Amino acid sequence: MAQQVRIGFVGAGGIATEAHIPALKQIEGVEIVALCDTRKEQADAAAQQFGGRAYSDHREMLDREEMDGLFVCVPPGAHTDAELIAAGRGVHLFIEKPVVLTMDKGLEIAEAVKKANVISCVGYQVRYFPVAEAARTFLADKTIGMVVGNRWGGIPGGPEHWWRVMDQSGGMVHEMATHNIDLIRYLVGDFAAVYACYSRNVLKDVDNLTVPDAQVIVMQFENGAAGSFSATCALTKGGGASSTDIVLRDVMLRISFSEIEVMPEGAADITLPEPGMNIQETFIHAIRTGDRSVIRSDYFDALKTAEVTLGANKSAATGKPVTMTLA
Ligand SMILES: NC(=O)c1ccc[n+]([C@@H]2O[C@H](COP(=O)([O-])OP(=O)(O)OC[C@H]3O[C@@H](n4cnc5c(N)ncnc54)[C@H](O)[C@@H]3O)[C@@H](O)[C@H]2O)c1
Repeated sequence: MAQQVRIGFVGAGGIATEAHIPALKQIEGVEIVALCDTRKEQADAAAQQFGGRAYSDHREMLDREEMDGLFVCVPPGAHTDAELIAAGRGVHLFIEKPVVLTMDKGLEIAEAVKKANVISCVGYQVRYFPVAEAARTFLADKTIGMVVGNRWGGIPGGPEHWWRVMDQSGGMVHEMATHNIDLIRYLVGDFAAVYACYSRNVLKDVDNLTVPDAQVIVMQFENGAAGSFSATCALTKGGGASSTDIVLRDVMLRISFSEIEVMPEGAADITLPEPGMNIQETFIHAIRTGDRSVIRSDYFDALKTAEVTLGANKSAATGKPVTMTLA
C-alpha cells in the first residue's frame, strides 16, 4: 500500500481547486487534511468538496494541523510567512509561480527553505512536458545564437481581479509569461542581464488596470546568446501567441508548450518522449522517497526566474539594464 501523505493548502482558489487537488486525488494515499483561504467561504467550499478542515488564517492552520506537504497557491503579492513557518516545522513545500513579488521576500524564503532542508517544488509544470525534455536533450551540446519569445493574450478575471493590478501580480511578464521565461532559462541557460521597455497605450480605459499592455525585453545570456521577448495583454477578445524561437547555426526550433517545429524541415531529428510523472506526482514521489532529483524547479531555481522578470520590471521603470545577481 502507498505511504500516506498529508497535504495542506494556503490559497484555495482556481489553481488549487481546479488543477492541484483534482490531480492529487488521482494519487493513491494522498489526503487533503486542511485548506486555508482568507476568503473563508472559499476554504469551506473546497473542504466540503475535497475533504480536510477549513481555515482563514494559515498560522492557525499550521499550528493545529500535522501535514507532510503544503501547497502555497496565493497571488504573487500575497506571500507572507506561510513558507517560513511551514519550512521551520519540516513541512515540504509546493509553491506556485511566480514565487514572490519582491526579491527581498524571495531571498528570505529561499534562506528558510535551505536552512530547514525541506523539499521545494515550484509550479513550473511546463518543465515536465515532453517538449521541454526533448528540446533540452537536443540543445544540451549545441551552441545557441539567438532566442526570440512571445506571450500575447488578454486579461484574466474581471475588474476586481488581482491580476490586473501591478502591485499584486507584477504584470503579464512576471505573472503569466514567467512560464515562457522559465522555459527559456531551462533550455538556453541563465540570464546575465535584461533591458526592458513597457507601455500602456491601448488599454488606458480599462477599469482598475495598472499593468502594462505591451512589454518588450532584450535579453543577454551568460553563455553569450542574445535574445528578446515580447508580451501583451491587449488581445482581450481572444487570439494571441505563445512560442519561442531558438536559432542555432543552420537550424532553428520553434517551441510551444506542446510541439517543436524544426526549420528548415529535416534539419534536426527531434522526437517527443512519452509523458512522465506530472508535477503533482513528482512532488509526492519526492516526499515519499526523499529523491529530489526528480524535481525540475526548486525554490532557489524558481527565484532565479523571478529575478529575470522582476529585473525586467525594474529596468522598464528605471530605463537602465539590470544585471542578474543570483548564482
Ligand atoms: N502553474 C500554473 O500554470 C498556474 C495557473 C494558474 C495560477 N497559477 C498561480 O497560482 C497562484 C494563484 O492563482 P489562482 O489562479 O489560483 O488565483 P485565485 O485568485 O483563483 O486564487 C487565489 C486564492 O488565494 C487566496 N488568498 C490570497 N491571499 C491569501 C492568504 N494570505 N492566505 C490564504 N489565502 C489567500 C484568495 O482568496 C484566492 O482564493 C498565482 O501565483 C498564479 O500565478 C499558476
